[in-house]
Formats: sequence, structure tokens, C-alpha cells
Amino acid sequence: MTPIGIFDSGYGGLTILNEIRRRLPEYDYIYLGDNARAPYGARSFDIVYDFTLQAVRRLFNEGCQLVILACNTASAKALRSIQQNDLPHIDPARRVLGVIIPTVEALGQLTESRHVAVVATPGTIMSRSYAIETAKLFPDVKISEVAAPMWVPLIENGEADHPGADYFVKKYCDEVLAADPDIDTLLLGCTHYPILMPKIRSYMPSHIRIVPQGSIVADSLADYLQRHPEINARCSRGGTLRFLTTEAPDKFDALASIFMNHPVKSSRITLS
Ligand code: DGL
Repeated sequence: MTPIGIFDSGYGGLTILNEIRRRLPEYDYIYLGDNARAPYGARSFDIVYDFTLQAVRRLFNEGCQLVILACNTASAKALRSIQQNDLPHIDPARRVLGVIIPTVEALGQLTESRHVAVVATPGTIMSRSYAIETAKLFPDVKISEVAAPMWVPLIENGEADHPGADYFVKKYCDEVLAADPDIDTLLLGCTHYPILMPKIRSYMPSHIRIVPQGSIVADSLADYLQRHPEINARCSRGGTLRFLTTEAPDKFDALASIFMNHPVKSSRITLS
């Protein structure tokens, strides 16, 4: 079996996995969450790169020919090095794709005011990846970037639905609005954030479109597979789904079941 690998530091990539499976249900998938070492958001470039490369190697060992980094932090800090420096040695025929470029391509089409805000982890914001990639593709779009360091910990600790989360959701929504009052689009530039969508929606004016990445990444993957028949042919189609986590499986299963809306049974692995 040669499943498509989906990697995230924790649970956030499940929001991407859900949309990918809705769009492309026939493929086999394997999800790897590095939950024991999440969040990655405030970690240094070198550490995120090392951890991500370990995960990619593991997914390759599971037979994956194609791995999606369903994590903005890993896409911002590790993707380019892995593509340029590691893949040629590991196996030039395999592919690792990220979430930032497809998202930027979609954003440029969505905004009418040409003012967009991105809310993401400190790591993604510090990389300036969204501003840099947007400037290349849509130089007329103004991007304002806001770090929301507390949102991932709230989600990873199962607090997303609780009233205490409102304080931090409102705090970063206010920062977004203060950074650029002319935005018509807010990108959730972290794959965890769709879990907070109801609360984020309640603190953003109704004319601002809030964009999660799941369907954008799913459409872009479908398009990629169509444009690359040689990769497509190497991805097996059995409709199966497996979960790997670096944390205790019962802990992963409990929260992942909420993200997936159905019971999840994972296996524990170690990465090094
Ligand atoms: N879900 C990841 C992202 O999209 C980050 C979460 C983390 O900080 O580990 O950036």
C-alpha cells in the first residue's frame, strides 16, 4: 500500500485531512501527529525542520510517495529545505507539498478590497511566508499578519468550546481589526484554527470573510494529482485511513474523534 501521508504537529492537520478525504475519498491515507512535541508554533527554525524531516522519513517508510505538510509552521520553516536539500538524497521521485502556496493562490482570487489579514502561529508569522509569497503572486494585495500564540494551546488542551477561550479569541480578533480596518478577508493560517471558527466568527464583523484552508488544500491536491499522473499512479486507492501519533493513543483518540466527528483508533510511534 502507498497511502498519501498527512503530517501535522498535532491535531490541526485533521481539519485538512477531513477536506481532502471529502474531495478524494478513493485514496489511502495515513495521518501522523507529532502530538508529544506539539505545539511547534514557537519553536526555532532548526527544531521544526528536524522534527518535520523525521516525520517525513517515517511516512516514507510507511510507503507514502506523497506527503502533505498539513501544518503552516512546518510548511513555513521546513518545506523548502526538505524539497531542495533532502528529497534529492532520500528519493527524488517522492514529493512533499505544503499548504502556504496553494492558500496564497486562493487568497488573491478571494479578496475584493485587496486587504487581507493572516492570523497564525508565531513561527509562521515570524517567517513572513504569507507576505513574501503574496508579494510574488499578487503585489497589489496588502497582507497584515497577526500572531495568535494562545489559540493552538487552547485547542490542544480541549478548551476550544469553553467560555475561557473567548478572552483570547477576542484579543487576537481585535488585533486583526486594529492592524488593518480595510480587510475583507481573514485567513486562518494555522490548521488548528477552524476548530475555533464559531467563536472567531462571533468577534469578526459580518462583512469579513473568514477563510479556513481545508478545502483550498483539498482542491489544490486534486489539481496536483491530475497534473502529475506519474505521482497519481503511485498512490494506492483503497479508501483506508490510519492514524499515528507520538503521544499516548487514548489521549490522541479522544480529541481526534472530536475533530473527525467519528471514533478514531491510533497507534503510537516514536520519531528520531
Ligand atoms: N497546525 C499548525 C499550523 O498550521 C501549528 C500548530 C503548532 O503550533 O504546532 O501552523
